[in-house]
Amino acid sequence: MSARSDRQIQVALGTRSYDIHIGAGLLETAGTYIAPLLFRPRTVIVTDETVATLHLTRLQEGLAAAGIAVDSVILPPGEATKSFPQLEHLCTALLDHGVERQDMVIALGGGVIGDLTGFAAAILRRGIDFIQIPTTLLAQVDSSVGGKTGINTRQGKNLVGAFHQPRLVLADLSILRTLPRRELLGGYAEVVKYAVLGDSDFFEWLEAHGAEVRAGDSAALAHAVEISCRMKASVVAADEREGGGRALLNLGHTFGHALEAATGFSDRLSHGEAVAVGMGLALDLSERLGHAPPGTAARLRAHLKAAGLPAHPDEIPGPPLAVPELLHHMRQDKKARQGTLVFILVRGMGEAFIADDVPPAEIEAVLSGAALQDTVS
Ligand code: NAD
Ligand code: GLY
Repeated sequence: MSARSDRQIQVALGTRSYDIHIGAGLLETAGTYIAPLLFRPRTVIVTDETVATLHLTRLQEGLAAAGIAVDSVILPPGEATKSFPQLEHLCTALLDHGVERQDMVIALGGGVIGDLTGFAAAILRRGIDFIQIPTTLLAQVDSSVGGKTGINTRQGKNLVGAFHQPRLVLADLSILRTLPRRELLGGYAEVVKYAVLGDSDFFEWLEAHGAEVRAGDSAALAHAVEISCRMKASVVAADEREGGGRALLNLGHTFGHALEAATGFSDRLSHGEAVAVGMGLALDLSERLGHAPPGTAARLRAHLKAAGLPAHPDEIPGPPLAVPELLHHMRQDKKARQGTLVFILVRGMGEAFIADDVPPAEIEAVLSGAALQDTVS
């Protein structure tokens, strides 16, 4: 397939601005985008074992074609890789490969590889540049853009990290063909999130064309990734460090994080699935508090259901979840401010706002209305 960067978006951050290119077959010509950014013609690709097997050779060849010498570091796949031991391993491997202050490394993978590599780049030699080549839909529409990098600790997810913007994002849509269905749907939940929080026309478009996106139709996928990245880029440009509006991107995440914690961050519920269920609950809460018209949550749930995503806590496999346990996890949420929970609510489809004054009884009522058990399991 010939390379086409059909779509280009700038993340406008002054001297740290960078471009996102979206197209099919970008791995093959990655060198033409990357070579002009390099201080010397060499780089190190960081990836995971699964992505290495499927896509590393094409990227290596694409870079070699532009005269770039390439080393690679291949890490185990999975969330556990976002850890102190793997951070140490990666930093040491990059130094062993002779990475210098002015060199650039490439993250080729999903959000795990992007977050870990970005954080390693933020601290190696007090900060080197890096490039994101996201290989999951979630990473293409969310984690590769915006500069949040980091690792998990035993206290929770993403608790150690840094804001460190990439120099370039190459979203090659053809890479998504090898993505397992459940991973694709998890990313689709994040696409729906952008529509719900800020673009009702996009929500309507997804209702009409979401099935094409999920089937991997190139034009539909390109449109969905572009609209999502445009929204993320504009939110990040306005509030890089989440002092205000960037929090809108957390729609569905306060409930979702509690659901993930209550299911032990296990295979029972993926992050994207938790966001889907969490968005349904956030819209329930919006309706309950009189912010959104009745039917808003039902419309979202109909779309999530059509997409094959869970839309309601009782669709999560396994024993029912307990309301007190969910409330407990919400209070631990890192987005809580002085004990007050912050929710992203909507006034209607595409009109999200930040609410930090939601009475706890209303949150409990929404969770209880979700037909959960009222005792800790
Ligand atoms: P992931 O990186 O674990 O990838 C999911 C799985 O898919 C892995 O097993 C991976 O090997 C495999 N895979 C990746 N690309 C593939 C491909 N093209 N074909 C086949 N298999 C492929 O998970 P993810 O969902 O991409 O990212 C989740 C992570 O992203 C979490 O750690 C989350 O905290 C983080 N995240 C970060 C941000 C941010 O702003 N930095 C935003 C959202 C999520
Ligand atoms: N994924 C949320 C953010 O980047 O702010």
